Amino acid sequence: MKTKTLLAIETSCDETSVAILKYIEDDTNTRFETLSHITLTQATMHAEYGGVYPNMARREHQINIVAVIAEALDKAGLLEQSTMPSADLPYLNYLEREPDVRPSLTDFVVCHPQPAINAIAVTTGPGLEPALWVGVNVARALADHWNIPVIPVNHMEGHILSVLAHSDWFHMPEIPLPSMALLISGGHTELVHINGVGDYTKLGQTRDDAIGEAFDKVARMMNLPYPGGPHISKLAAEYRLLNNDAAIISATDAPAIKLPRPMIHSGDLDFSFSGIKTATRYLIESLPKPLSPDIMMAIAHEFETAVTDVIVYKTKQAIMHHGIQSLIVAGGVSASAYIRSELTQLCESLSIPIFLPTGILAMDNALMIGIAGVLKLCDPTYTIPDITTIRADGNWSL
Ligand code: KG4
Ligand code: ZN
Repeated sequence: MKTKTLLAIETSCDETSVAILKYIEDDTNTRFETLSHITLTQATMHAEYGGVYPNMARREHQINIVAVIAEALDKAGLLEQSTMPSADLPYLNYLEREPDVRPSLTDFVVCHPQPAINAIAVTTGPGLEPALWVGVNVARALADHWNIPVIPVNHMEGHILSVLAHSDWFHMPEIPLPSMALLISGGHTELVHINGVGDYTKLGQTRDDAIGEAFDKVARMMNLPYPGGPHISKLAAEYRLLNNDAAIISATDAPAIKLPRPMIHSGDLDFSFSGIKTATRYLIESLPKPLSPDIMMAIAHEFETAVTDVIVYKTKQAIMHHGIQSLIVAGGVSASAYIRSELTQLCESLSIPIFLPTGILAMDNALMIGIAGVLKLCDPTYTIPDITTIRADGNWSL
């Protein structure tokens, strides 16, 4: 039996997340097990400011990362106590730019013997560069100290591969190829053609705001807490349950609540969400204040429906024009029940399977980074990079 154990780190935005995965290959099958997965979110901290501040995110990652790594190793049963901690403190490389992490990480390596880990996978981009660097530098420092490789992972590839995980195990399911990934998150809106793991071609992307960013900004206009996507989605679902458009509008004497479907007929696979954000602002400005709960529901519903119409239409075009055999939908916005159900219906009508991340795996997490890392580690054609060359790159494109 062949096994490999991997530690995965994700710090590209406001989640400090660590996962431990085991790859097992025996005579009967090949599988992957999740030994532990811990995500600490900074969302409530950033909520006060209505968005993520890169330097604040970096500071929080610096404060928490070592404790999250220790807890993940402990949960995976891989954390032991050193019987005789050395009095000579080791000098850890790569922490020059993370001086605040040095004491906790030094303490950690002194108090615990090297765990049975074969490699460390880390998100190196895209994302907020100051935040990414914390994960990258900690991964490099630990890997250098333990003399194991670091596997850099693209955050968007992580989102694509997040659909492979099911609770505490995963395997390479039969994803018919070529596949298409619709990646919808706070930072990205992309259609990616997939010919296999690692073989990606971007066919379309947003020209301005990402879809999740538009959800968050519209929520902010309605004084809903950050991140606003889930709140908009919930209000829209309540509206659909009531399904009482005419009554709401006549009750408040408000003008029709209608928003544009930006770039729906642009003839390409690009997106734009900045115009609908401005249109929503004008709509809100035209309405009597304070906005009634009914009007808030109606706006949220129209906004979610408008952006869904666009992504469903463009995804359909992409599938039909590229001979696509399956659809992968991932990224934080894929948590929207309405978007999931509309895209599921699209795939049913086209007779192709759809793959969606389960539960918290739609959000940023280290497990998806670990999946990408394990697949690289086990790929005989993959070349392990030199630790000194690994860098955070906020704009790393797939
Ligand atoms: O992938 P993710 O966790 O982080 C990035 O890489 O950006 O995505 C976060 C985004 C936020 O904009 C958030 O508002 C949105 O996903 N989001 C949702 C829902 N849950 C999270 N948007 C719509 N409906 C949801 N249920
Ligand atoms: Zn993400």
